[in-house]
Amino acid sequence: MSLCVAIDGPAASGKGTISRALAARYGFAHLDTGLLYRAVGALAADGTDPIDAARALRPEDLDRGDLRTAAAGQAASKVAAIPDVREALVDFQRAFARRAGGAVLDGRDIGTVICPEAEVKLFVTATDEVRARRRFEELVAGGADTDFDKVLADLRARDQRDADRATAPMTIAPDAIELDTSTLSIAQAVEKAAALIDAAIKDADNNGSTV
Ligand code: DC
Repeated sequence: MSLCVAIDGPAASGKGTISRALAARYGFAHLDTGLLYRAVGALAADGTDPIDAARALRPEDLDRGDLRTAAAGQAASKVAAIPDVREALVDFQRAFARRAGGAVLDGRDIGTVICPEAEVKLFVTATDEVRARRRFEELVAGGADTDFDKVLADLRARDQRDADRATAPMTIAPDAIELDTSTLSIAQAVEKAAALIDAAIKDADNNGSTV
C-alpha cells in the first residue's frame, strides 16, 4: 500500500501534531516538509547560496538544533519563495509521498503540487490568535524571550508571504477537506482526520485497488 496523506495549512495550525499522530496510528512514514525549507533557510543565513543549499541538502542538515526558532521560520519562508529552491526539493518529496507502506507529508503545497493525486487531503486551519497563542507558548517553553503581539505579527507576515508567492503558494486544494482546529482538542482533530483515512482505505478495498 502506498497511500499518501497530504496535510497543508498555515503556521501553528496543528498540522504537524496531527500528521505525527496519524503516521504513528497507521504506521505511515512522516515528512515535515517545512523542515527542509527551515534547513535551507538556516544554511542561507550562514552564507550558503540558498539554491546550492537546496540542491545539496543532506539528512544531517535537518538535525541542526536551531531549526525551530522564529528566525528559522522566517528564513524558511523567504527561501521558499525562490522557484529553484522549491524545484530542487520536489523529487525527494514526491518519492517520499509514494513510498511503500504509506506516507503523511505536511507543508503548504503538498495537496496542490507535491502530491496532487493524494488519497487524503486536509487543509488545517485555526484563527490567527489561536495559532499565535500556541506558537507563543511553544517558544516560551523552549526558553525564548518574546511577546504575544510580536509572535502574532510574525505569524501573519509569514502566512502572507507563503500565500502570496508566485510559485506553489499556500492554498487549499479544490478537493481538500478543511479542518478548523481552533476549538478542537488534539485528540478530536486527530479523530476527524483519521475518519478520512479510514474512508480512503475502505474505498481502496472496495475498488480492489492497492493504493
Ligand atoms: O511548516 P513550517 O512552519 O515549519 O514551514 C516553514 C516555512 O517553510 C513556511 O513558512 C513556508 C515554507 N514551506 C513551504 O513553502 N512549503 C512547504 N511544503 C513547507 C514549508
